[in-house]
Amino acid sequence: MLILPDTPPDLTIPAVLRPLRNVFLSVFSSANARFLFRASGSHTYYEHDLSLSRITLPKTPPRKPAASSPSPRKTTVPRVALAGFGTVGSAVAKILCERTDGLWRLTHIFNRSVERKKQPWVPGSVIWTEDLHAVLHSDAEIVIELIGGVTAAEELVRGALNAGKSVVTANKQLIARHGPDLLQLASGNGCQLEYGASVAGGVPVLPALRTGLCGDRLHGIAGILNGTCNYILSRIETDRIPFSEALEEAQARGYAEADASEDLDGGDARAKLSILALAGLRVRVSPAEIRARTIRGIDAIDFDYAAELGCTIRQISRADLKGSTLFAEVGPSLVPASSPFGRVQKNLNMVLTSGEYGGDVAFLGAGAGGDPTAVAVVSDLMCVAENLSAGPRAHRPLLLVSPKVTCDFETPWYLRFVVNDQPGIIAGLAAILSAHGLNIDAVLQKPGFEKASLPFVITLEACRDAQLHPALQEMSALPFALRPCLCLPILS
Ligand SMILES: NC(=O)c1ccc[n+]([C@@H]2O[C@H](COP(=O)([O-])OP(=O)(O)OC[C@H]3O[C@@H](n4cnc5c(N)ncnc54)[C@H](OP(=O)(O)O)[C@@H]3O)[C@@H](O)[C@H]2O)c1
Repeated sequence: MLILPDTPPDLTIPAVLRPLRNVFLSVFSSANARFLFRASGSHTYYEHDLSLSRITLPKTPPRKPAASSPSPRKTTVPRVALAGFGTVGSAVAKILCERTDGLWRLTHIFNRSVERKKQPWVPGSVIWTEDLHAVLHSDAEIVIELIGGVTAAEELVRGALNAGKSVVTANKQLIARHGPDLLQLASGNGCQLEYGASVAGGVPVLPALRTGLCGDRLHGIAGILNGTCNYILSRIETDRIPFSEALEEAQARGYAEADASEDLDGGDARAKLSILALAGLRVRVSPAEIRARTIRGIDAIDFDYAAELGCTIRQISRADLKGSTLFAEVGPSLVPASSPFGRVQKNLNMVLTSGEYGGDVAFLGAGAGGDPTAVAVVSDLMCVAENLSAGPRAHRPLLLVSPKVTCDFETPWYLRFVVNDQPGIIAGLAAILSAHGLNIDAVLQKPGFEKASLPFVITLEACRDAQLHPALQEMSALPFALRPCLCLPILS
C-alpha cells in the first residue's frame, strides 16, 4: 500500500492515477495493487484498487500515536516450555523459533539426555533441560507435551496443570485414557488443555468438533484414522499385492513400525475414536470398550470380490450415538468405491461427522508427520495464548455421559470362506445361516483357483452383529473350512 502525499485537489482521481498506473503495476507485478491517497489539504483518504480502476471507501487518516499516551491494550507474550524434542517436538520448535511475530516466547526445551538434542537454530535464551521440575517450577505459562507414552506424559501434564500452567498435547493414548479427568483438572485449576493434534495429525477435526460444529447435535462420527492401515489396504487395492508385501513396503517407507500391531489390529484407531467421541459426542468411552478387528486377514482376492459389489475395503472407525447407547467399533469394512472413504488413498486420514441440524461434514488430510502435526500443535498453542490474554476463565464442569457401549451394528455382511472344495458346501453353510434366521443376498465364486484352497464369498442381508456371531463360529468349525471365515460389514 502506498500513500501519495498532497495530491492536487482540483484533479479528478482517475486522472491522477492514470499516469501512475503503469508505473506501480510494474512495481507490484500484481493486479490487486491498492493505493491509499488523500487530496492536498484534506484529511480524507481514498483507497484505490488499480485492477478495477475505481475509488472505494473513504478512510479516516491514520493517526500518529501520541508519544505519551499509554497503549490501549496490555499485550503480554506467553512463555512456552516444550517437552519432547523428537519428530513432532523438533518440528514445533522450528515453527516457534522461525515465526518472529511476537506471539510467544520459547523458554525451555525438556528432553531426556538433552545434550544430544541441542540445535544451533534455537535461540541462546532457551534453556535446554532434562529436569522436569525446572519446567514445572519455571515461569512458563504453557507447556507443550510431546514426549508421548502414557505414564511419564501423565505425570508431566498433571504436574503442569497443578502448577497452574495450560497444556497442549498431541498424545492420543494419554487423552484416550485420561482425557476426561485431565480436562476436569485443567478446568478446576483455571487452565486449558488442548489436544487437537492427537487425532488425524494435521487435519483440524478436533478443533472443528469443539468449536465450528458445537452448535450442532452430532450423533455420528466415522473415519479413516490410521494412515498405516490405509496405506496397506490401498496398496493391495491398486496393485493386488499380498498383505505381507504391502506391510513390508509400508515399513520400508516409514509408514509402519517394525511391530505394527497397534495399527493393524486397530488399537491406534480405537484410541482416536474414543477421543473423537469425547469431543464430538460428549461421551466418556475408553478405548478398551471399543471392539477392534484386525486387517491382517485381508488379501488381494477380497478386493476382487469387493469390486464385484462396487466396493473397496478400508479400516473404518465409527461411533453412532442412539439415545444412551453408543454403537462403536474399528475394523476393515466394505465401502462403496465411489464414496468419500472409498477414494481415500495412501496414508491420508478422513473424518465424516453427522449432525442433527447440519448434516454431514467431511475432513481430509495428512494424519501424521512432523510438520502437519506441528501445525496442529502450534494452532492449539495460539488458541490457548489468545484465551490467556482474555483473562481468567470460569470453571466449567465437563458434562459427559457414560453410555452403554456396543458393537452390535445392523448392516449387510461380506463373508469370505476358503474351503477344500467338495459337494454340499453351500448347502451346509446355508443350513447354519437359515437356522440363525440370516438371509443370503448373493454367492460369488471366481474361477481359476485350486479346488483344495478355494476362496468364495457369501453376502448377507442386513442383520445385527450379535445375530451373526454364533453362526460364524459354527460355519468356521465345518470340516471343509480351511480357515476362519473373514467377516466384514458392508457400509453404505
Ligand atoms: N509423529 C507423528 O506423526 C504424530 C502424529 C500425531 C500425534 N503424535 C503424537 O505426538 C507425540 C510425540 O510423537 P513423536 O513422533 O514426536 O515421538 P518421538 O519422535 O519419539 O519424540 C519423543 C521425544 O520425547 C523424548 N522423550 C520420550 N520419553 C521421555 C521422557 N520420559 N522424558 C523425557 N523425554 C522423553 C524422546 O527422547 P528420545 O530421543 O530419547 O527417545 C523424543 O525426543 C506422541 O504422543 C505421538 O503419539 C505424533
